[in-house]
Amino acid sequence: MNNYKLKELAAKSAIKYVIPNSIIGIGTGTTVSFFIRFLKEIKHLIQGAVSSSLTSSKLLRKIGIKLFDLNDVSSLSIYVDGADEINPKMQMIKGGGNALTKEKIIAAVAKKFICIIDENKQVKVLGKFPLSIEVIPMACSYVISELNKLGGFSKKRKNVITDNGNYIIEVHKLKILNPILMEEKINSIAGVVTVGIFAKRPADIVLIGSSDGLKTNINY
Ligand code: A5P
Repeated sequence: MNNYKLKELAAKSAIKYVIPNSIIGIGTGTTVSFFIRFLKEIKHLIQGAVSSSLTSSKLLRKIGIKLFDLNDVSSLSIYVDGADEINPKMQMIKGGGNALTKEKIIAAVAKKFICIIDENKQVKVLGKFPLSIEVIPMACSYVISELNKLGGFSKKRKNVITDNGNYIIEVHKLKILNPILMEEKINSIAGVVTVGIFAKRPADIVLIGSSDGLKTNINY
C-alpha cells in the first residue's frame, strides 16, 4: 500500500471515535483531509468543529460543517490530527504544514487527542523530521542564534507566513532525547510563539495505517 492509502486507512478508522452531538477539533494536513472527507458521511451527527487552520476551515465549510470559535465552545470531545513524527510515548513533532500553534491550543482543550498517521511516522527518538517553530518575525535571527546553542541546524522556512502572520524556523538534525524538557526550553526563548514538540500533551490514541492493516495504540 502506498503512503496515501495508509493515511486514508488511519483517517477512516478515526470516524468511530466521533462522539455524537459534540463539537470536535480538527487538525491540518493530508491525513486530516482524508478524515474530513469521511466526516462528511456523518456530519449530521455532530454540532460542528473547531479548526486549526484556514486550509481545514475551507474543507469543512465546503462539506457543510459548522465552524465554531474556540472561545464560544465549553468543551471539545476529541481532537483529530496527524503528526510528522511520533515516539512510543505518543509524543510528537508537528507543524510540517505550518499550523502548529492553533493545533497545540486545540489539543490542549480537547478531552482526547486522536492521532492519525501512516506507519512511516513512527520513530524511537524524535528529531529526524525538521522541527517547526513559529516565531514573531522581528525575533527570527535572535531565536535562530539561541536554537543553535541547543544543537542541530536552524533556518527560516522559505516563503511561509503562518495563519497568525508569523515566520516558521525549522531545526534540522536535532536529536530530541527529552521531549518535555526540549519543549519547555524552546518555548521559553523570547519571540517563540510555539514549538512543534507535542510532549507535555501527547496523543491519547494513535491510529496507524500500516501495510499489515490498522494498528491502534491507546494511552489512558
Ligand atoms: C500540520 O502543521 C502538521 O502538524 C500535520 O499534522 C503534520 O504535518 C502531518 O501532516 P500529514 O498528515 O500531511 O502527513
